[in-house]
Amino acid sequence: MKKLFVKTYGCQMNAYDSAKMADLLAPLGYGAADAPDGADMVILNTCHIREKAAEKVYSELGRLKRLKEEKALGGGRMLVAVAGCVAQAEGEEIVARQPAVDLVVGPQSYHRLPEMIARAAREHGHVLETDFPALEKFDSLPAPSASGVSAFLTVQEGCDKFCTFCVVPYTRGSEQSRPPAAILHEAQKLAEKGAREIVLLGQNVNAYACPDQDGKRWSLARLCEAIAGIEAIVRIRYTTSHPRDMADDLIAAHRDNPKLMAYLHLPVQSGSDKVLEAMNRQHTSDDYRRLVEKIRGARADIALTSDFIVGFPGESDADFEATLKLVRDIGYATAFSFKYSRRPGTPASTMRKQVPEDVKAARLACLQKLLLDQQYGFDDSQIGRTVPVLFEKTARKPGQLMGRTPYLQPVHVAGDAGLIGQLCDVAITRRTANSLHGTLAEKRVLA
Ligand code: 5AD
Ligand code: SF4
Repeated sequence: MKKLFVKTYGCQMNAYDSAKMADLLAPLGYGAADAPDGADMVILNTCHIREKAAEKVYSELGRLKRLKEEKALGGGRMLVAVAGCVAQAEGEEIVARQPAVDLVVGPQSYHRLPEMIARAAREHGHVLETDFPALEKFDSLPAPSASGVSAFLTVQEGCDKFCTFCVVPYTRGSEQSRPPAAILHEAQKLAEKGAREIVLLGQNVNAYACPDQDGKRWSLARLCEAIAGIEAIVRIRYTTSHPRDMADDLIAAHRDNPKLMAYLHLPVQSGSDKVLEAMNRQHTSDDYRRLVEKIRGARADIALTSDFIVGFPGESDADFEATLKLVRDIGYATAFSFKYSRRPGTPASTMRKQVPEDVKAARLACLQKLLLDQQYGFDDSQIGRTVPVLFEKTARKPGQLMGRTPYLQPVHVAGDAGLIGQLCDVAITRRTANSLHGTLAEKRVLA
């Protein structure tokens, strides 16, 4: 058995792709290794979203170069592949900066990996694939090799929104949706492998639109409804959504589809209309407020989360205040926030009035404090309640299980490992910094 080590950076779609690449290489005799030392092949599945994420890849490649040399001393060969969005964006530059790299493969070309490996073995040169063919890269795979309790399933890829700060439209290409039949087949297989929750993935997942065999257009809501028809699947989530694509049928699904969780990641990025305009977000802060009102009208307890960027070019103190105000007005369960990072090739990178680093840092600290206060407030509101928890795995502490509430909060509970994969009522008793804690309720197994 040859050893394959895959290191994943960035988003959930990369995690999904990494698992699929491992499945794709299994028939070639590669088995998963949990460290790069001595591996026959190492894949770095990279992220280009912010500068820091991309730079990490080059320092990891430096370490791999040494491991590769060690392996060569012993007469072996370690193939080093760079996959993901850095591969797509920087292609040739990667091999120029780090000649130890054998393969560079963009996110739409993973199905070509077996043939690329064969070429690299034959030719001993660098092999690059960064085309944008149709969204078919994993269609040849018969079934996922394994599944956790919660499983990712890519339904859509790419983005046509062109927010002025973002590399995704360039690295992942334009919006493409997978056919409903392929998705339902994969969902069924995941269920057979033990999945109880499916998380539908897409860079713009709620823009999902694809005709079925009869030419009828399926929306994300329709897809969720069909997946809810799989008995073993008890929870459905989806991420990431754009406010512009939050269609009425999807909002209604949060009211009508009991398996669709009361949880929505709906990034707004900024609360200032001037900044939203410069970001090309195609909505105002009041559009977003009205949308949230509508969603809460359909599902009052929905937990909302968001992404924020502080220090976008031209962001003034007043603009930043507008973001804080929006956060206070909406009330988030949790959120991610980032300092604006200049990405080469994006329109915002050449905008005037770039914000100084120290201003960005101060704004980020301020926003993160507010968001953390809201998160703790939301978590504390669960204490004393009994909520359905889906157990995913054993926790680090012996005898403890980790599961999640409908709102995605991690919960630690003393319980038998046999409960993994089950949905149980849990009485929430307390909160620590990163988790809720609770006890199994009397009538515990729900599904
Ligand atoms: N700088 C900082 N954050 C960014 N994001 C995307 N591009 C950038 C950038 N250039 C953030 C956005 C997005 C999340 C995935 O990453 O908030 O929603
Ligand atoms: Fe990037 Fe905007 Fe597309 Fe999201 S919607 S992936 S932030 S361009």
